[in-house]
Amino acid sequence: MSTLLLLPGDGIGPEVIEQVRRVAGRIAGDIALGERDFGGCSYDAHGTPLTDEAEAAALAADAVLMGAVGGPKWATAPRDKRPEAALLRLRQAMGVYANLRPALCFDALKDASTLKPEVVAGLDIMIVRELTGGVYFGQPRGIETLADGQRRAVDTQVYTTSEIERVSRVAFELARGRRNKVTSCEKSNVMETGLLWREVVTDLHKRDYADVTLEHMLADNAAMQLVKNPRQFDVIVTDNLFGDILSDEASMLTGGIGLLPSASLGEAGKPGLYEPIHGSAPDIAGQGVANPLAAILSFEMALRWSLGRPEQADRLAAAVKAALDGGARTRDLGGTLTTAQMGDAVLAGL
Ligand code: NAD
Ligand code: IPM
Ligand code: MN
Repeated sequence: MSTLLLLPGDGIGPEVIEQVRRVAGRIAGDIALGERDFGGCSYDAHGTPLTDEAEAAALAADAVLMGAVGGPKWATAPRDKRPEAALLRLRQAMGVYANLRPALCFDALKDASTLKPEVVAGLDIMIVRELTGGVYFGQPRGIETLADGQRRAVDTQVYTTSEIERVSRVAFELARGRRNKVTSCEKSNVMETGLLWREVVTDLHKRDYADVTLEHMLADNAAMQLVKNPRQFDVIVTDNLFGDILSDEASMLTGGIGLLPSASLGEAGKPGLYEPIHGSAPDIAGQGVANPLAAILSFEMALRWSLGRPEQADRLAAAVKAALDGGARTRDLGGTLTTAQMGDAVLAGL
């Protein structure tokens, strides 16, 4: 029997994960669902945003599905006790170095983007974000007070050859099953890590993936090209920080951040970590109006990538499409449905 560990988290996290529970019960009732506190709620209950027991449960599951963590209540907690720090620790403990963030514009939603429909219609991009390295983890980091009383903050961007190569391999493999093109984004014009990134991707391409079209693009230009002509992209591979930013930008091409799921994968056979790319949305938390589709589609990715159930994943994807085709819209998409009503619409499609 497969096991899926739910980590609802904070803010709208529990609201959207509740809809995943309903959908999972309907489509894959034989999956054993576990649940643990994670993030701010865990800090409040246990004094730490990720208990050792919860981490062990995540490592022992077949897949982990997170809602969202963080919020103003914990913004002043010590850095290592913050919800976001726990998320980084979990990603690293699970070794999920490749974060797949598909930006897909559903036909029914081509008018929901702030961009013109003719720019986003038919959009299907896969952003592959490096997830366990870079400036998120580099040492040294910290804030020190200098002799003259000023304070000085340091973050370190660092990448090794193998870190770049393994995530690029994932991007090339994905491209082969899609439109066979990879765009690698960095800032090799100003950053040493960018230079190494470009060299490693170029080498790997020459060695193992010469059949795939490879293009290098500076990350600032990529941000511009994403809104100018997003359909030029197939697979984008980039570092942890640029991937974070470019994927939030890409979500608006699909109609909104409440739609974008993600899958974080590591070594074959290890559990994947699935999460919407959005956060805990403190501005709407508790109102029951958050869009649950990013979470539901993250479950769909878990069915596909960790739980070995592609048919159930296909059924769920079709149900989401049917709900949107039928006009189901939460507030962020210009509609009036509540979180639970959007859940109802997906269940109806099942
Ligand atoms: P956010 O993604 O929470 O919200 C940004 C905006 O998008 C808000 O206006 C919000 O209402 C809206 N939004 C987000 N998800 C939505 C949904 N499902 N349906 C409708 N609208 C939605 O980003 P933020 O406000 O910058 O961050 C809030 C907190 O969340 C911070 O503590 C941040 O660190 C944390 N965060 C966590 C994650 C995560 O857990 N993976 C991701 C991003 C941010
Ligand atoms: C995301 C989030 C996280 C990140 C934060 C909450 C640590 O923004 O998953 O996109 O920066 O990776
Ligand atoms: Mn983000």
